[in-house]
Amino acid sequence: MTAKKPDSHTSPISDRVKRVSPSGIRKFFDLLASMNDVISLGVGEPDYTTPWHIREAAIYSIEKGSTMYTSNLGMPDLRQSLSSHLKDSYNIGYNPDSELLVTVGVSEALDLAMRAIINPGDEVIMPDPCYVSYNACTILAGGIPIMVPTGEAGGFELDSADIEARITDKTKAILLGYPANPTGAVMPRNKLEQIAELACRHNLFIISDEIYARLVYGIEHTCLAALPDMRDNTILLGGFSKSYAMTGWRIGYAAANQDIIDAMTKIHKYTIMSAPTMGQVAAIEALESGDASVSEMVEDYNRRRLVMVNGLCDIGLSCFEPRGAFYAFPSIKSTCMTSEEFAEKLLVEERVAVVPGNAFGKCGEGYVRCCYATSLSEIEEALERIKRFVAKYKLK
Ligand SMILES: Cc1ncc(COP(=O)(O)O)c(C=O)c1O
Repeated sequence: MTAKKPDSHTSPISDRVKRVSPSGIRKFFDLLASMNDVISLGVGEPDYTTPWHIREAAIYSIEKGSTMYTSNLGMPDLRQSLSSHLKDSYNIGYNPDSELLVTVGVSEALDLAMRAIINPGDEVIMPDPCYVSYNACTILAGGIPIMVPTGEAGGFELDSADIEARITDKTKAILLGYPANPTGAVMPRNKLEQIAELACRHNLFIISDEIYARLVYGIEHTCLAALPDMRDNTILLGGFSKSYAMTGWRIGYAAANQDIIDAMTKIHKYTIMSAPTMGQVAAIEALESGDASVSEMVEDYNRRRLVMVNGLCDIGLSCFEPRGAFYAFPSIKSTCMTSEEFAEKLLVEERVAVVPGNAFGKCGEGYVRCCYATSLSEIEEALERIKRFVAKYKLK
């Protein structure tokens, strides 16, 4: 007689994977894929091609035959450049030989950070709404996401008192991502200081995803790890995808104290080995000579940001002013539709794709994410179409 299988063995899929909720917007993206002539404000990536000098550096390295694995930590020259970049930008020192790890985008760095510090049942506090991977990576690492509501009235900023109210003896870390996807919010320095003080007092780690650090408009980015006493309590995540228009190269990094980087490297070594070699060469060139390209793109995003935000407000969709990243997050509550209804109808009736805000958490309901990393002419045409659409469904 064969032994009865335990419940967890009757399904081929692990409980952990099952706990990650399937994306509520899959139907919407399936629909999008089947349509032509759509203006997409949906995808969160730059419309620029990677600047030529960066592509050229990578092409040249391939011509020279640089096609092998690199060290697990990443190329020494890249780690050195990253260390100098963080020193120059925020006056914070990381040893390139032991405190920096080059990863396959911030995506991998986030997953490693979670798996390196979380024990089953540990709680991770994060803002709602937030980037979709924060919740999923926490669950996949065996942790429990604890969402802190944020809203338009408070500029989608995270309040330290709201965090403190959710701290329990299971809380392991606070996960922040500013400038923020999907809202474009940037946290003011004093509010980050309050959260840092709280983290120190409760002995919590902060994982700080600063992938949009260089995409800020008329405001300074504060690096969380550079705040007093935070260097050793912070896992700083950064990357090249957004600022340098390098999404396809898949390069990011983590900076933290040596124990954390050792733990993350242990996982990275057995699962990834090393980040793509050509991407690392391109990242060195980006850090060494990419500043002018970044400034040009930031100026351009800023022009588009103003057109998008003013346009949405003129249409009657109230829109909090995003000061970072490349997203606007207008309220669509005045149309009396849910986020999903609005996005689906707008796509079908006017061929404009936006992302329903509830994809980013409960507090995103009543909003849609509009990415303005697309040409001005497309933004203007999209605004015309949204205007026509909103006029049809009378405002309250
Ligand atoms: C907030 C945030 N973090 C991380 C990522 C992933 O970036 P990468 O391309 O470096 O993996 C994204 C991509 O959209 C993002 O918006």
